[in-house]
Amino acid sequence: MKGIVLAGGTGSRLFPLTKITNKHLLPIYDKPMIYYPIQTLVDAGIKDILLVTGGRNSGDFLRLLANGKEFGLAHLNYTYQEGEGGIADALALAEHFADGDKICVILGDNILEKSVKDAVEAFKRQDRGARILLKEVEDAERFGVAEMDGDRIVSIEEKPKKPKSNYAVTGIYMYDGTVFDKVKKLVPSGRGELEITDVNNAYIREGTMTYSYVDGWWTDAGTFESLLRATNLVAQSASPEQRKKAAED
Ligand code: DAU
Repeated sequence: MKGIVLAGGTGSRLFPLTKITNKHLLPIYDKPMIYYPIQTLVDAGIKDILLVTGGRNSGDFLRLLANGKEFGLAHLNYTYQEGEGGIADALALAEHFADGDKICVILGDNILEKSVKDAVEAFKRQDRGARILLKEVEDAERFGVAEMDGDRIVSIEEKPKKPKSNYAVTGIYMYDGTVFDKVKKLVPSGRGELEITDVNNAYIREGTMTYSYVDGWWTDAGTFESLLRATNLVAQSASPEQRKKAAED
């Protein structure tokens, strides 16, 4: 399976932090934000990775990550999203790279405590369709939210005022090769973006959407609150050796 990290967009919710740098280069404890989603893919056994960047600081990703040696990778692929047309618009740029294979997509501001390997392995065994990862949260209105009927997802609502469940759709999405045809049929949402939630709803309508639950904590890091939360969660999870090293460096 191939991996795609989406790190486009302008990070406007983090102004002025993102006025002179890209959101995904901001620090989360002792590493730049972008390290975490890349490591999540690598830990799940995914070694063929495309990074979608954008904005004015995209060159900094090359200098920071080069060919991904720090992650044990032999090579890292890059592409550039013009503007910020939405998550599905950024994903569309990966069609050539995916070349019909199954893909695992992760948002560049999503940080997880534990591995997603089990979900990735389950999707490898899945004939076709998509698999998303859900997490129970207290502030579901900030996310895509799954409406459940028993153990079935019947629809996903993007940032609903009155969420129909507490299950947030996290930014880890697994898709078969038909995802790009689904993206091509999208129309921009009220906020002018091609929404990943609309892609997921297309799979739900088709009856091929499955899901797993996130193990351990999960957070995004795109607002001041969640950026701080992410840093605190990572710091608390760091081993005593890591903390000692971070204090010494
Ligand atoms: O974190 C999970 C949530 O992410 C989901 O629950 C929502 O359904 C999904 O829409 C998304 O919500 P956000 O509003 O938090 O997404 P945001 O605009 O902050 O973008 C998240 C990441 O996606 C961002 O760090 C980089 C990437 N992105 C985003 C946009 C708008 C792109 O690569 N290009 C873009 O144009």
